[in-house]
Amino acid sequence: MIDHQLPEGVEQHFHAHFDDEPVDMNDTATNIDDATVAELEELAGRYPNKQSAMIPMLHLVQSVDGHVTGEGVRHIARILEVTEAQVLGVVTFYTMFYRRKVGKHLVGVCTTSLCATMGGDLIYDAVKKHAAGKEDLFTVERVECNAACDFAPVMMLNWEFMDNMTPRKAVDILDRLEAGREVRSTRGPEITSWRDNERVLAGFYDGKADEGPAAGQASLAGLDVLRESTATEHEGRR
Ligand code: FES
Repeated sequence: MIDHQLPEGVEQHFHAHFDDEPVDMNDTATNIDDATVAELEELAGRYPNKQSAMIPMLHLVQSVDGHVTGEGVRHIARILEVTEAQVLGVVTFYTMFYRRKVGKHLVGVCTTSLCATMGGDLIYDAVKKHAAGKEDLFTVERVECNAACDFAPVMMLNWEFMDNMTPRKAVDILDRLEAGREVRSTRGPEITSWRDNERVLAGFYDGKADEGPAAGQASLAGLDVLRESTATEHEGRR
């Protein structure tokens, strides 16, 4: 058995997702209406094996209810002809599914190796402190590597990249969101809300895929080096 007790004075770094509250299956509160049920069924119909739609369907439930609700689980289990326990097993396995209500914006600060080295923990502390008492607006969490280490330290805002952050830049972004001012990912797309992006993750296109560059300069630098070395190699063979 794993002992979760940490020595006195040592702070728990990552929140253990498995220890989150369970989905409250007795709570029947939901925003899921006939239109949502029709969309859940549409998602199930997109796959040769309808059970493959479970993850997109859970994202759709989150976009409507703000987290995974008991009613969402019931609808998915019925449509996919699986047990509620099977749906709950997927919910508790993936960290992208929330059993607690998420604020309008999900702020994930990367505190894995490179981002941590570049100040990720300082950003996390600043953002967490700044968002205290504004839980309807912001949910702040640590996230693991987003494969964007060349832009470290990185903050994910509703799963959009905010590259090369500092505590000051991150807090300023929260202030702009709170004031209802425009905020864009450092890669282009306008930040709307976590629920909007959950709908995209469910598979309903928002038309914004082409906003901003597909890859940033730091990532493309490696490609330039490769092109240069290939050109030199060709030159040498002549
Ligand atoms: S360590 Fe933060 S994106 Fe890789």
